[in-house]
Amino acid sequence: MSIQASENRGQWGSKFGFIMAAAGSAVGLGNIWRFPYITGQNGGGAFVFVYILCVLLVGLPLLYNETALGRLTGKNTVGAFKDTGANKFWQITAGFLALSVSFFVLTYYGVIAGWTIGYIISEFTDFIKDFETFRSNALYVIPFFALFMVITVYIVQAGVSGGIEKASKILMPVLFILIVLVIFRSITLPGAMEGVKYYLTPDFAKINGNTILAALGQAFFSLSIGWGIMITYGSYLPKSNNIISSGLWVGSMDTLVALLGGLMIFPAVFAFGKDPAGGTTLVFQVLPEIFNSMPTGGNIVGALFFLLLCIAALTSSISMIEVPASYLIDEKKWSRKKASWIIGILAFLIGIPSALSGGASSFFTNISLNFFGTTKTGFLDIMDALFGTLFIVIVCLMTALYVGWVLKPQKVSEEIGLGSPFYHKKLVFGLSPSQMWIFFIKFICPIVILLVLLATVGVIEADV
Ligand code: ALA
Repeated sequence: MSIQASENRGQWGSKFGFIMAAAGSAVGLGNIWRFPYITGQNGGGAFVFVYILCVLLVGLPLLYNETALGRLTGKNTVGAFKDTGANKFWQITAGFLALSVSFFVLTYYGVIAGWTIGYIISEFTDFIKDFETFRSNALYVIPFFALFMVITVYIVQAGVSGGIEKASKILMPVLFILIVLVIFRSITLPGAMEGVKYYLTPDFAKINGNTILAALGQAFFSLSIGWGIMITYGSYLPKSNNIISSGLWVGSMDTLVALLGGLMIFPAVFAFGKDPAGGTTLVFQVLPEIFNSMPTGGNIVGALFFLLLCIAALTSSISMIEVPASYLIDEKKWSRKKASWIIGILAFLIGIPSALSGGASSFFTNISLNFFGTTKTGFLDIMDALFGTLFIVIVCLMTALYVGWVLKPQKVSEEIGLGSPFYHKKLVFGLSPSQMWIFFIKFICPIVILLVLLATVGVIEADV
């Protein structure tokens, strides 16, 4: 990819380059850290089923939508709405809100990525005795958080064409192989089958409005939609690129890694007697124990795993800075360097309460919010519920409404179909993919999202 070190708008070098960068943004802590914890809080197997439905019915059409909107306009997430004639209302509720999702998620995403740096070191030095003591120590978590943010900003401001893109091509397959290895260890632990059952057997009694909102939010979080990321990345995409097949690649890689992430964690959760609903810390409580339980080489596998997880987080966090940065570069004519550093420093400062919410500050640890009937405790968890779920879902709703009903979807649909030989051919039930996409963006996406939001705030009864 060539997001240049100068203010010039770049273009991806190749289709593979775009897929890797977009998949790099999609695959991250959302798959390995967030998917298992959200699944655990929402009852296991049934949630996984709802999650897959959300990806297919709502996630993919919106992924196409964002990528095409970006390429159509060649603009950042606010500029894309402005350029297509959106008034202030849509610019704010879809464009600026997406930009703030990217920015505010980054403020706590960086904290969690910082924990992975701690664990890379700890696999050799054993300085982390237990996770709770580690994350309640500001002298550990703040420097690791700062280090992660500096690396992120450094890459964004210098352009990512050399290092990250090349590295991702090699490291992502290695991460995949390691996940398979860890799954093998996890499912062969004594008592692991309980976890496999919990993860793969749906119990539909556990589904309600809140569960579906969590699944929608997780699908959007994981696919990097509703953050302005795919609009921004789409704006660097050459016209010759086939959005349909690239989107399919990105969506399936992301979903596969998430599903494998769950298969890696839940058998071990049950084998070690942990609570699957343990929340944001679940993965960090369980993974080190899996590595410890390996008969040999556990620390090497562990260090490598956390290193690759940290790199996966990095390829996501650079996309989060890229969203506000491209806005400031395009609209406010800032230099890339100035935009990246200022956003990075602000995100770090605003992220400090999240970093302290693991025990270092009792105020930020105990602060709680009633989130549509469930209590979220701790600043980081509250941020994740608000920005990582609620606002992402609202942005996706507003974007679908805008493209489907205000802009008129034909324009975006044409953009999606460029370079695809079958997009206008009648394939299923006499309908072409183009007609199906328009139907989804106008009706299915907004209606599903709206129903879920209404069910969550209790306006409609949603027990299934
Ligand atoms: N989509 C990115 C992730 O899953 C942000 O971590």
